[in-house]
Amino acid sequence: MPRILIAGCGYVGHATADLFHAAGWAVEGWTRSATSAARLSTKPYRVCRVDISEQTQVLAHTPADAGFDAVIHCASSRGGGVESYRQIYLHGARNLLDRIVGKNMLFTSSTSVYAQRDGSWVTEESETEPPRETGRILLETEKMMLDRGGMVARLAGIYGPGRSGLLTKFLAGTAIIDPENDRFVNQVHRDDIAAALFLLLSGEARDAQIYNVVDDQPILQSECYRWLAQRLNRLAPPIGKSNRQRKRGDSNKRVSNAKLRRLGWVPRYATFAEGMEKNVLPSFVYRS
Ligand SMILES: NC(=O)c1ccc[n+]([C@@H]2O[C@H](COP(=O)([O-])OP(=O)(O)OC[C@H]3O[C@@H](n4cnc5c(N)ncnc54)[C@H](OP(=O)(O)O)[C@@H]3O)[C@@H](O)[C@H]2O)c1
Repeated sequence: MPRILIAGCGYVGHATADLFHAAGWAVEGWTRSATSAARLSTKPYRVCRVDISEQTQVLAHTPADAGFDAVIHCASSRGGGVESYRQIYLHGARNLLDRIVGKNMLFTSSTSVYAQRDGSWVTEESETEPPRETGRILLETEKMMLDRGGMVARLAGIYGPGRSGLLTKFLAGTAIIDPENDRFVNQVHRDDIAAALFLLLSGEARDAQIYNVVDDQPILQSECYRWLAQRLNRLAPPIGKSNRQRKRGDSNKRVSNAKLRRLGWVPRYATFAEGMEKNVLPSFVYRS
């Protein structure tokens, strides 16, 4: 039975762990806190508390015969600052790579490493020049992963059951349509990410490759809000000047999934509207 370690068994991690388990893999998941590990204690696979930024903890939980065939680093800093990026992404990846050698390893990075501002299409070959230090740390982590034969999945904005940044903002009444600073948003449903990670790690080895994981249709932020307004029968957000610093930078680009699609990945939710309609809206509970 092949074995996989999911280092960061959170929103994406646990959906991915479920998928590997259902496919007959032996799964081990790690979280940083005891609370999250306890929440997942009813899962049919082992979840334990291991902080990947602490080398001693990684060593203690991966004996030489741990026998993982594949490892996913999908721990998240949940925003956080430069130091937390460095600890969780860079040091976390190094600790895993130093300990688990020669196995299929994958790091979930972000499409925020593309800093294009002109609405152009970007592929894995496109320039990456993130304006912020946090983005540069992601790139440094990617480089380390690739140099040591691992893979990188650049995830777009994640949404799915119980989670959508745009829907939350819309419902909270904090969304603004800013015609002068409209931009494309690139999103992907959580379950399509899990399917992509399964495809990348369960087939033939694809060393040192980068894949964008994003749905088929980048959508203008204004269109997205207007679609939500129409669908939920509410007023569209007011037109105004958005002065909030964007979490994902000031980029404006359309991210292509052609490389991943060439491997046979087909998103179950090809567009944000489809994912919302079929999967998210029916059970979305908004907490203010
Ligand atoms: N959110 C987005 O739209 C977005 C976009 C692009 C890429 N990404 C990337 O996608 C990946 C998955 O994100 P997600 O939304 O699934 O994150 P999440 O729901 O916040 O889950 C993160 C998981 O990582 C664990 N973790 C955090 N620090 C850790 C550490 N030092 N050692 C071990 N485990 C640790 C957390 O454990 P605790 O619960 O115990 O803290 C949690 O289980 C991350 O790499 C993230 O950066 C996210």
